[in-house]
Amino acid sequence: MDIEAVDVGVLIDDREIVAGQSLTCRPNTMTALVGPSGCGKTTLLHCVGLLQRPTFGRVLVDGADTSSWSSRRVRQFWRDNAAFVIQDYGIVDDESVAYNVTMSATLFTNRLRADQSRLEAALDRTGLAGRGGDRASHLSGGEKQRLAIARAIYKDAAVVLVDEPTASLDSANRTLVVDLFADRAAAGCTVIIATHDEEMMAACDSLHTVSRQRSDTTAKVAR
Ligand SMILES: Nc1ncnc2c1ncn2[C@@H]1O[C@H](COP(=O)(O)OP(=O)(O)OP(=O)(O)O)[C@@H](O)[C@H]1O
Ligand SMILES: [Mg+2]
Repeated sequence: MDIEAVDVGVLIDDREIVAGQSLTCRPNTMTALVGPSGCGKTTLLHCVGLLQRPTFGRVLVDGADTSSWSSRRVRQFWRDNAAFVIQDYGIVDDESVAYNVTMSATLFTNRLRADQSRLEAALDRTGLAGRGGDRASHLSGGEKQRLAIARAIYKDAAVVLVDEPTASLDSANRTLVVDLFADRAAAGCTVIIATHDEEMMAACDSLHTVSRQRSDTTAKVAR
C-alpha cells in the first residue's frame, strides 16, 4: 500500500509541532522518520497511521484522500491493513504472550483461535520462543518491545508503523529487530519507522528528516 503525506502540518495549542511535511512511502520499502528529539517524528508517524488527524494537509492511502474518511473507515484501515509497534501500545498485561500476539482468545473459553504455526514462527523470530504461555506483565521492557513486533509479524499487515523499536535494546537484539523490519519490507510491506538509531537508518531505503521547515524524503538507494 502507498502511504503519502502531502504538506502535513500539526498545530497544538497554536504551536506548530509539524509543518509542511511531504513524503511517500511505498510497498517493499522501509522509510525512516529522523531528526532530533522533539522534532515531530512521533506526531508525523501518528498522522500517516491515521491515529491523529493533521491540522493541515492530507494523508493519502493508495491515492485515496483519508481526510474525508469516517472513523469507521479509519478503523477498517487499522484492522485490515495496519500494524502498529508503538511504545506501550495495546499490550494487555494480564494476558498471555500468545494472546497478545494473536489477540484472538475467545471470551468464554479463553482458548486461542490462532494459527499456531504462525504464532510460533512470530515468537521464534522475535526471540520469544517458548514464552507464549507467560503473562505479558512478566516480560522485561525489551521483551515487551519484541512482543509488540511479534504481533505485527503475526498480523502480516500491508502497512507497518513503528516508533523507536530499538530504544533500550542491546546490540544483538537491535540487529535482530532491524532485520525483522527489513524482512517485512522485503516481504512487500510498507514499513515506516520513527528512529534515532543509526543501524536502523542504515537499513532503511529512504530517510525523511522531520522539521518545521518544509521537507522531502531523501531516497538512499533504489532497491
Ligand atoms: N498532545 C500534545 N500536546 C502538546 N504538545 C505535544 C503533544 N504531542 C506532541 N507535542 C509536542 O510536539 C513536539 C514533537 O513531539 P514528538 O513526540 O512528535 O517528537 P519526536 O520527534 O517523536 O521526539 P522523540 O525523539 O523525543 O520521541 C514536542 O515538542 C512535544 O512536546
Ligand atoms: Mg517520538
